[in-house]
Amino acid sequence: MNNPRNLMVGNWKMNGSLAANASLLADILAGLAQVHCRTALCVPSVYLSQLQTLLAGTAIELGAQDVSAHESGAYTGEVSADMLRDFSVRYCVVGHSERRQFHAESDGVVAIKVQRALAAGITPIVCVGETLAERQAGLTEAVVRRQMAAVIHANGHCISEIVVAYEPVWAIGTGLTATPEQAQQVHAVLRAQLQAATAQAERVSILYGGSMNADNAAQLLAQPDVDGGLVGGAALNAHEFLSMLKAASR
Ligand code: PGA
Repeated sequence: MNNPRNLMVGNWKMNGSLAANASLLADILAGLAQVHCRTALCVPSVYLSQLQTLLAGTAIELGAQDVSAHESGAYTGEVSADMLRDFSVRYCVVGHSERRQFHAESDGVVAIKVQRALAAGITPIVCVGETLAERQAGLTEAVVRRQMAAVIHANGHCISEIVVAYEPVWAIGTGLTATPEQAQQVHAVLRAQLQAATAQAERVSILYGGSMNADNAAQLLAQPDVDGGLVGGAALNAHEFLSMLKAASR
C-alpha cells in the first residue's frame, strides 16, 4: 500500500437480500488477492449480523450507513452507536446527502452523530457536498466548508479520527462525475480546513463519491488529495468494484 490514507468504501444503500449479499460478497472475496487498499462495506443495518459473520477473518471491514444522534432510549426505529459496535462495525457513514435531503438532517445533527460514532470507537465517514444549484451559484466551497465546520466545532481534537467524503450531490447516482480537477479543488479546500483545525490533518482520508466507477476511478485517485472512494452503484457489481479496488491499490 503506497498511501496509508487509501480507503475504498462500498455503500450498498438500501439494496440487497440475504441471498444477494452472500453471492456478491463471495465474488468480491474471490478477487481480493490483488487488492492492497483498505476496504470497507457499509450495509443496511439489518444485514450487519450477516456481514459480520461473512467478513470475519477477511481483509474487508464492516460499516454502517447511519447512526442515531441519541445514546439510547425511546427513539423508535433508531440504531445507536453502541449497538453498531456490538456487530464489529468499524466505519459509519454520517451525513450522507440522502439523509440530509430525505431525512432533514441538519449540520448540527450530523455533528452530534459524528460525536456518537467516535465515542463508540467507530470511524465516521462524514459526507459533505454541494447541490447543482449551489455549484452553479458559486457556493461550492462555502457549502462544504460550512458542513465541515459544524463537525470540526463539535468534535475538537478528535477531528483527526474521522474520514471525510466529498460527494457532490449532483454526481450521486446520476452518472455525472466531478472531473479529477474539480474533485481535487474541493479536496484541497477540505484538507486546508482540517489543517487549520488539527496538526494531524495529514492522517485524515478524504474520499471522493459520486458516480465513481471502474472507468474514472484511476484518474480521480491520481489526485494528491483524493485518498479513496465512497462508491454506491458500482459497489453492487463485484467485477467493477474489484477493478476499482485494484486501481486504488497502486
Ligand atoms: P454513487 O453513490 O456511486 O451511486 O453515485 C455514491 C454515494 O452516494 O455514496
